[in-house]
Amino acid sequence: MIPDHIMNLFERLVNGAREKAKDEITLKMIQWKVDHTWRVVETGREILEGEKGQDWDKSRAMSTFLLHDVGRFEQALLGSYSDKTTGVNHAFLGAEMLEKASFKDKEIIEAVHDHSLPVYEGPNVYTKLVKDADQLTIVGEEYQLERLPEQKIASEDVLRTIEKGIKLDTAISVGRIDQLLAYWNWKKFLYFKTSKKIFQNRKYDEMLLTKLRSIDSSGKTEKWLRKSTDLLSTTV
Ligand SMILES: [Fe+2]
Repeated sequence: MIPDHIMNLFERLVNGAREKAKDEITLKMIQWKVDHTWRVVETGREILEGEKGQDWDKSRAMSTFLLHDVGRFEQALLGSYSDKTTGVNHAFLGAEMLEKASFKDKEIIEAVHDHSLPVYEGPNVYTKLVKDADQLTIVGEEYQLERLPEQKIASEDVLRTIEKGIKLDTAISVGRIDQLLAYWNWKKFLYFKTSKKIFQNRKYDEMLLTKLRSIDSSGKTEKWLRKSTDLLSTTV
């Protein structure tokens, strides 16, 4: 399903970063992103399987899933995966790396470039696919939350944005509660029906609620969530 030349390119980019890694921690960080990538490939495959009958190129979609985070491998060399901390937009860097490697598929490069934008309303279906696959994967990944600072109460900005039903830019999240709320906000903006189904099948609402209760035992955020949003109305 993923063409050999794409697999080779992916491996070349991963190994290029590994060769430059100065210590075990950096190598581990690169490996986390390799593992994340394969989870995105699997989730992406699930979306494709549920969305049969769409007129898209499956192998191009699978290649986009595989290549979407190549910028993370170079970013890891700077000691963090945070675009904020490193001052590097990993998605833009990834697109640049592909161009530098003389990769020619413009639609894939565009999808890699745009996969991390808070809002994407353009016509590229591969961008939409990879955004859904990436977000569904991230919600299920423990370490994504653990690397963020602890937080007692959610940020006002985050609460107001979610109340308005607007897509949240995770750049405004300052800690774990904000991030959990951002995950719920993402659910609302998934592009494909199958993605919404996957969110449900994986019982993400239940999982996020358990996490929220362990972080905010006062129950204040949960109460707000139930009163001021419809995010839990159909599940827990
Ligand atoms: Fe990414």
